[in-house]
Amino acid sequence: MSIFRESLFPGRTVVVAGASGGINLELARAFSRHGSRVAVISRDRTRIETAAQTIWAATGNPVLGLAGDVRDYPGIERLMDSIRAEFGSFDVVISGAAGNFVARASEMSANGFKSVVDIDLIGTFNVLRAAHAHLRKPGAAVINISAPQASSPYPGQAHVSAAKAGINLLTQSLAVEWGGDGIRVNAISPGPVSGTEGMARLAPDQAAVERLCAAIPAGRFGEMDEIASLALFLCSEAAAYITGAIIPCDGGLALMGAGGWK
Ligand code: COA
Repeated sequence: MSIFRESLFPGRTVVVAGASGGINLELARAFSRHGSRVAVISRDRTRIETAAQTIWAATGNPVLGLAGDVRDYPGIERLMDSIRAEFGSFDVVISGAAGNFVARASEMSANGFKSVVDIDLIGTFNVLRAAHAHLRKPGAAVINISAPQASSPYPGQAHVSAAKAGINLLTQSLAVEWGGDGIRVNAISPGPVSGTEGMARLAPDQAAVERLCAAIPAGRFGEMDEIASLALFLCSEAAAYITGAIIPCDGGLALMGAGGWK
């Protein structure tokens, strides 16, 4: 349940990459619930069209579901142009497309490592680079999706740590470069969140869930609407002086360092 009572983003245009499910879909739904026109992008056409339909059914506000791979820069640029043509210039861009699997570096293929860096890090650059011309205006906001792995190494997550650490510095670099364009660039670092594909991979059984909860100071997984509340705040006027911040929403997991996740 959102703590925000009024409609925060009426008539704004919000683009969410990687939104066929999980946290990003919830973020798209939250902005739609707050009155935005929302464009959602993901690789799988069926899944993204279903996601768009789900959002529209929940809110009744305009939604575009578009199939595209964040690794394909020309394709993403075409999608951004088509969103601009349909919905006008952008107010918020959320870059959340991500890949993950658990594999030790010594057992992972070079292509496996590259795939995750390509989706998470290069994909984030591609989305933001292609959106920039449509986003540059006072009040615009970007949210990137980071992870606790960006600052703490966890076994089986070298590829994710490398990609997400890159996202953190990309977030801060773009905050510096794009501040003069009126664009604030921040990142959210969600910890384990219930009901996500990522957690199904990282904590596949009850024993793993309990081990992880024991390492989280808050003692539990997060909920998707807790991540959405932070995103709504970061894109609102209440956060007008916040840029270049990487904000954990993880129940304190990152404070536990590499010992937090075994
Ligand atoms: N363990 C080790 N290597 C794996 C793997 C696993 N569980 N899953 C995939 N890989 C490797 C593949 O073997 C392949 O390398 P190879 O060509 O040397 O064999 C490489 O990763 C790419 O796999 P492929 O399935 O062709 O790529 P893809 O682009 O379709 O998928 C992934 C990208 C690998 C990141 C896949 O996990 C994915 O699509 N994830 C999206 C959903 C997701 O992870 N959501 C959670 C986000 S937190």
